[in-house]
Amino acid sequence: MTGAQRMALDNFHQRFLITPKDSFSPNNFFPEHQKVIVEIGSGMGEATAEIARTFPELGFIAIEVHQPGIGALIIKAVEYDLNNLKMINEDCHLILDLIEDGSVDGFHIFFPDPWPKTKHQKRRLLNEKFIDLLAKKVSSGGFVKIATDWIEYALQIESIFNSNKNFIGGITSRPEWRPLTKFEQQGITKEHEVRDFLYIRS
Ligand SMILES: C[S@@+](CC[C@H](N)C(=O)[O-])C[C@H]1O[C@@H](n2cnc3c(N)ncnc32)[C@H](O)[C@@H]1O
Repeated sequence: MTGAQRMALDNFHQRFLITPKDSFSPNNFFPEHQKVIVEIGSGMGEATAEIARTFPELGFIAIEVHQPGIGALIIKAVEYDLNNLKMINEDCHLILDLIEDGSVDGFHIFFPDPWPKTKHQKRRLLNEKFIDLLAKKVSSGGFVKIATDWIEYALQIESIFNSNKNFIGGITSRPEWRPLTKFEQQGITKEHEVRDFLYIRS
């Protein structure tokens, strides 16, 4: 963690960080916003902050396990003076268990860790069990938006969503509001094909 990230956390955690211990609905934190999007794995928060700035009418909750990423996102949130963003520094599995069923308007999952080696693939976030959990938490008509630059992971995502009767959707064009992050740029530099997905909860 850099000094600036540490300072951002120390000075602004009360404004941006939430530490849920009991069951909650994302709307509890944004009673005046139209809808609330939960982002899983916000990384250094470059895309998160830009998207929150683009859509001030929506609330955003970013879940990221890596503390320096939270510090970096706070720096951006302060710079943009965002009033529609909260962050949770925790493993998303623990937090999803606390979120009330059917209470999430949408999920963003951009560039989940690809775990390219065969022996590590079981660590991938998006597996059958996790998709079932998303189906439980998202509202009817709500969405899951995903992007990945790892083709094998993209095929896995397509296959598990196709066999989950709770979602309809598939590959979609890149949303113009999704900023290019350093992580995505690295993939593009290596000539990886980036795929965006949109799934709607029936
Ligand atoms: C490859 S990075 C992508 C970050 C960002 N979305 C982007 O597009 O630049 C994946 C992120 O997911 C986070 N992550 C992985 N597993 C997680 C979990 N179980 N709960 C919360 N965050 C997680 C990692 O710490 C990492 O920051």
